[in-house]
Amino acid sequence: MGRQISDSITRGPSVSLTVNDVPVTACAGETLAAALFANETIVFNRTHSGEARAPFCNMGTCFECQVRVARPGSSTYRWLRACVTQVEDGMAVRTGMRLDKPEEDGMAVRTGTRLDTPEEDGMAVLTGTRPQAPEEA
Ligand code: FES
Repeated sequence: MGRQISDSITRGPSVSLTVNDVPVTACAGETLAAALFANETIVFNRTHSGEARAPFCNMGTCFECQVRVARPGSSTYRWLRACVTQVEDGMAVRTGMRLDKPEEDGMAVRTGTRLDTPEEDGMAVLTGTRPQAPEEA
């Protein structure tokens, strides 16, 4: 997990979500952007040319922080701004998706896997998708 300020901070109860199919914990009341940063996500989405994007304004204005999110109980992924979306227990999140064609031509890359047991504790990153108009939240 990434570094978090802990002195004099009262955090909400733990919630569970997945990021690129990897189980992640966050604290109720946190934004999705904070939870993703805490879990070392640095590429939130990609432009049509594949350029990596990440939060810039952190106040809902720039749309650089968009990630694909399926709300709890839904299998439909929609673009949401991570900086103004609170984490929810059971949320599924995909990062690194191309804004213009998030669902097609994806390439799954597994990083952070153990050399001796690669199928047990890796992190999946979806990237390399082709252009398409984004599905609006
Ligand atoms: S970081 Fe600018 S809208 Fe989220």
